[in-house]
Amino acid sequence: MQTVVDLTRCQGYAQCVFLAPEVFELHGEEGLLYATAVPDEQIERVRQAAAACPVQAILLGEE
Ligand code: F3S
Repeated sequence: MQTVVDLTRCQGYAQCVFLAPEVFELHGEEGLLYATAVPDEQIERVRQAAAACPVQAILLGEE
């Protein structure tokens, strides 16, 4: 699965970092960093992160 974060929407709420820290990371001035290719064992966590993001910035897609 692929994930893309719309960084123009992201406000740094960090729900994604809390729910899937192996995929999402907040990095000071660079803002949110993330893995675009989601490992299978992280898919459920990334789905939860997408649902939890208050501004719906996390988009998911099949490869
Ligand atoms: Fe940004 Fe949403 Fe995560 S606002 S830091 S993508 S929870």
